[in-house]
Amino acid sequence: MENTHNFFIPKNNLIGVGSIKDLTNELLNWKLSKVLIVTDKNLISLGWVEQVEKILKNLFIFYDIFDGVTHTNPTVSFVEDGLAYFPSELELRRDYHLLISIGGGSNHDCAKGIAAVATNGGSITDYEGYNKITKPALPHITINTTYSGAAMTMFAIITDESRQVKMTVASPNITPLVSVNDPMLMVTMPPEVTAESGIDALGHAIESFVSTEASPITDTLALGAVRLILRYLKRAYENGNDLEAREQLMFAAVLAGMAYNNAGVGYSHALGHQLGGFYSQFHGEYEGILLPHVLVYNAPSVPEGKLRELAEVMGINAGRKTEVLDRICTSLRKLGTEVGIPDNLTKMGVQQKDLDTLAQNALKDISGLTNPRRGTIEDVKNIYLSAM
Ligand SMILES: [Fe+2]
Repeated sequence: MENTHNFFIPKNNLIGVGSIKDLTNELLNWKLSKVLIVTDKNLISLGWVEQVEKILKNLFIFYDIFDGVTHTNPTVSFVEDGLAYFPSELELRRDYHLLISIGGGSNHDCAKGIAAVATNGGSITDYEGYNKITKPALPHITINTTYSGAAMTMFAIITDESRQVKMTVASPNITPLVSVNDPMLMVTMPPEVTAESGIDALGHAIESFVSTEASPITDTLALGAVRLILRYLKRAYENGNDLEAREQLMFAAVLAGMAYNNAGVGYSHALGHQLGGFYSQFHGEYEGILLPHVLVYNAPSVPEGKLRELAEVMGINAGRKTEVLDRICTSLRKLGTEVGIPDNLTKMGVQQKDLDTLAQNALKDISGLTNPRRGTIEDVKNIYLSAM
């Protein structure tokens, strides 16, 4: 019986303190004349975009900057605004040879959407789901400034405002070609972004570890990420200048990104995405609140041995499976509280009257397809309720 575990990540990954400088060598490999930078105004003001501009100028590469990612949850209209930089009379828009996105997951995902439509035509809404993008997207380099891991992945999470739904667009064809993960570009992350993107990475690691598509490869990556996040997230949250913590969390984000790019995620993401589509708050905060509740729901479908492996890297030694689960959840809640993540959805403004719609949207979210336990609308609604 077929049981494939193909492994996709960006072709080249520049990793570590000072790795941004190696972008020059990467760009020299391309015969480029024009690049579109996808970013936001905050990153321009922090000077990170200027650093990339200098590299492009030194190589005599023309560039434009699209800084229209104005929100943490990128929308269909952001993608359309970015595509407006391309000549509209061409059906397939190839004016730029390369996209460089600078920032966190929102900027990278918006750029993936632009890159997909630029070569495939139509609208990003045409590509919701898995493997709908048939042609390679425009080449794309991601320069990562948070721990979201989106710089490594084939997923673009785009909000369709007209339906208040977060779409997952997933295809190996939108995997970035190069990722740059320089922890020096992460030191300016404010504490709340450190916390929410770090907790998001923890969600990627844990959900990919219990996923139906998990393999020994993704398990090893995921557990490595969990170990590092538990050790360093609180330190980086409390002191953004703690360079050791920043560096180790960058490694955690890369590990978790590789894990979930190949094993997928689960209901914390499916349910969390749809809260984001509805109420537009930080993805990682929903993730942090939902994760223990989803683990409890999933536990009957997670082998005891796996739960014990997860517990072990979290420094937990316990007796029965229920006790192991209990202590994992307590540890996750404790970390969430320590880094300022709200402990329930009510505090995030989620309203019970919306739960039916949210549960329906969550069950349609393809991020849930690799969840270890299949739920009904009632199950999903109950998970939301337990987190209220
Ligand atoms: Fe996530």
